[in-house]
Amino acid sequence: MNSHKKSAAGIAAKYVKDGMTIGLGTGSTVQFFLEELAELIDREKFSITGVCTSSATEREAQKLKIPIVSLQKETSLDLTVDGADEIDIHLNLIKGGGGALYREKLIAKNSQTVVIIADESKKVDVLGAFPLPIEITKFGNELIQRKIEDLLPLTSLRKNADGSIFESDNNNYILDCKLEHANSLLHLEQELKLITGVVETGLFINVADVAIVNNYKIEKDDQYA
Ligand code: A5P
Repeated sequence: MNSHKKSAAGIAAKYVKDGMTIGLGTGSTVQFFLEELAELIDREKFSITGVCTSSATEREAQKLKIPIVSLQKETSLDLTVDGADEIDIHLNLIKGGGGALYREKLIAKNSQTVVIIADESKKVDVLGAFPLPIEITKFGNELIQRKIEDLLPLTSLRKNADGSIFESDNNNYILDCKLEHANSLLHLEQELKLITGVVETGLFINVADVAIVNNYKIEKDDQYA
């Protein structure tokens, strides 16, 4: 719900300090955070630099006059604020519903603090109702899909509304997979990453530090009420 997304974004904005370099996530919840950030820059004269996780976010940041830079060797990210498709009780996530998983993970894993914002619909006991996105190279995509199906049998190549194949900002394809009850998400993640042609998975294990759901905060290893 939009009011819940907005209040989560408002709480995340309290993590922003003058002078920070901030990873800007992707999606409708992050949109509210971008608006908060633009206000901090305008009203408080905060000097903020954003690093965008998608071309969609880049366009929004430019519209809102948030200064952005590309990811460089020397880039040091203080904070990343991003949305999620699912959040479990250990703050493990499924991400990539918007197709930005690779850049989102690269930026989050190189940030000092990662804050996830969402409404309550994203909170689950166990990950897997939402399909797990896996970004793969175009070259050999059918073979790569077959290899992935040894681990996760139900996969489908993501398509656009007009039936054409969806391409990520990195010009790769995305498979949406059914996450069967994995004994160890970390093990599954490692096995998937060993398949040549898998660029990245939407499993974010031990990446988030805090999740803000509606208007309350969940720290790592808090149990849901
Ligand atoms: C983008 O690739 C995803 O990881 C998003 O973070 C996710 O889909 C959340 O989007 P909403 O805030 O629109 O639900």
